[in-house]
Amino acid sequence: MQWVPEYRDDINRVERFNAVARITHWGHTVTFILCLFTGLVLFCDGMDWLATIFGGYAGAGLVHRIAAVLLTLFIAFFVLFDFKGIISWVKDLLRFGMNDIIFVMKFPLDFLGLPVKMPPQTRFNGGEKGNSMLTPTCVIFLVLSGYIMWFPAIFPAGLVRVAYPTHDIAMVFATFMVCMHGYLGSFHPGSGESFWGMWKGTVREDWAKHHHPIWYEEAYGEKADAEKE
Ligand code: HEM
Ligand code: HEM
Repeated sequence: MQWVPEYRDDINRVERFNAVARITHWGHTVTFILCLFTGLVLFCDGMDWLATIFGGYAGAGLVHRIAAVLLTLFIAFFVLFDFKGIISWVKDLLRFGMNDIIFVMKFPLDFLGLPVKMPPQTRFNGGEKGNSMLTPTCVIFLVLSGYIMWFPAIFPAGLVRVAYPTHDIAMVFATFMVCMHGYLGSFHPGSGESFWGMWKGTVREDWAKHHHPIWYEEAYGEKADAEKE
């Protein structure tokens, strides 16, 4: 059984994510999962088995804080070293339009394996645009509320009280998004090639043309060649 499509370097490939974006993404994945598991130890009763892995409740609290600081540093790293990339990401999100809405509406059929013709997509498809807006927003709420909970003495009492439910709600939303996103970015038939884009940096050129034709044309097509000349 094959989980993700084979990595083919005998077929033309085009760059999708640079090294900074990839380091940030996988850094976030590891630190997010660590925060989630250690956070669940503190959040739910009956998680003793999970607490044992982290050396008890105090250990889980410590790992949570270390992972949280690393998660914050990965955000800083992204901002410092690929600010231009963030701007072009945001610009792509602002292009959200009818093609994205149609994509999202048709996606459940694609998810169920039915043949669907999707409208042409830009660098990020409608679902990825939604993920790009929702997941980072939840992570920002987690970071802000997390530091307020960590250092309650320096924040107003009302803010500290609000931080607890905010942290919990953001955790639930982000976890739901990451579960769907993790599956769609790896094992889901058809979108699996995108895993290589995030892992090795490149995707097959034919896949790029098929899944993101507007992006392909703008970044690598005749229009891009004409702009370079
Ligand atoms: C910069 C990021 C973060 C910081 C500074 C932070 C900080 C904290 C702090 C100080 C606590 C209280 C710990 C205690 O009572 O000993 C906490 C609890 C918790 N955190 Fe985080 N956290 C962060 C990110 C995350 C993330 C990414 C998740 C999950 C995806 C998460 C899930 C939780 C959960 C579930 C709890 C338990 C809340 C409760 O008991 O109601 N945290 N966090
Ligand atoms: C669980 C394992 C994960 C896998 C397998 C995974 C996979 C991927 C892949 C393949 C892409 C590139 C998609 C494209 O071609 O545009 C991507 C993008 C992205 N990932 Fe992840 N990811 C994971 C976890 C996470 C986590 C934990 C976060 C944030 C907390 C996250 C946030 C994002 C965002 C914001 C994007 C850009 C928008 C998008 O393409 O959906 N990912 N991920």
